[in-house]
Amino acid sequence: MKRVAILISGGGSNMLRLVEDMTGDHPARPCLVLANDPDAGGLVKAAALGVPTAAIDHRPYKGDRAAFEAALQARLEEAAPDILCLAGFMRVLTAPFVNGWKGRMLNIHPSLLPKYRGLHTHARALEAGDTEHGCTVHEVTAELDGGPILGQARVPVNSGDTPDDLAARVLQMEHRLYPAVLRRFAAGDRTPVQMP
Ligand code: GRF
Repeated sequence: MKRVAILISGGGSNMLRLVEDMTGDHPARPCLVLANDPDAGGLVKAAALGVPTAAIDHRPYKGDRAAFEAALQARLEEAAPDILCLAGFMRVLTAPFVNGWKGRMLNIHPSLLPKYRGLHTHARALEAGDTEHGCTVHEVTAELDGGPILGQARVPVNSGDTPDDLAARVLQMEHRLYPAVLRRFAAGDRTPVQMP
C-alpha cells in the first residue's frame, strides 16, 4: 500500500476528492495533509476525515526558500510518503527540493499544458479566443508546469463565459481527473488519463 502526502494552500477541494477516493481497492492511502498556511480551510476538512495534518507557514522564512523547504522536508520525512500530490499548493518549489522527489511528485494545473503555464489560465484562454480549455495532472520537475503529462481533461468554452464560469467548469473536471490519475500512478501505471 502506497503512502500519499498532499500539499495544499487553500480550501483543498482537490485534496478532498483524492482522500475520499483512496479507499477500498485503491493502491494508496493518505498519510498527511500539509499546508503552507495554518489557516488553510483544507486542513479542517482533512482532519475531519481522520487524515493527519500539519502546517508550515512560509511567511516567517521571509523568502528564504531553502529554509522553508528544509522544514517541509523534515515534516514530510516523518510521514514517509511514497508519493507527493500538490493540490492547490501555491508555493513554487526549488530544483533541489523537486529533484529530491523526482518521479514521485504530481501537480494539478488548470489548463491544457503546455498552454498557459503559470497563473490566470482561464482569463488567458478567453483572451486567446480558445474554444476548448481544461486541466492537466503532470509529474513535477524543476521546469514550472513543465513535467511529463499524466492526464488531461477538456471542457468547452461557451460564448459569454467569464473566467469564473470557466474556473468552475474546469474545477469539476479536476475533481474527476486527479483521483483517476493518482489511482493509476499509485499502481505504477504512467499511461495518461484522457477525459472526457
Ligand atoms: C485549482 O484550480 C488548482 O488547479 C489550482 O488551484 C486550485 C485549487 O483548488 N492549482 P483547491 O484548493 O483544490 O480547491
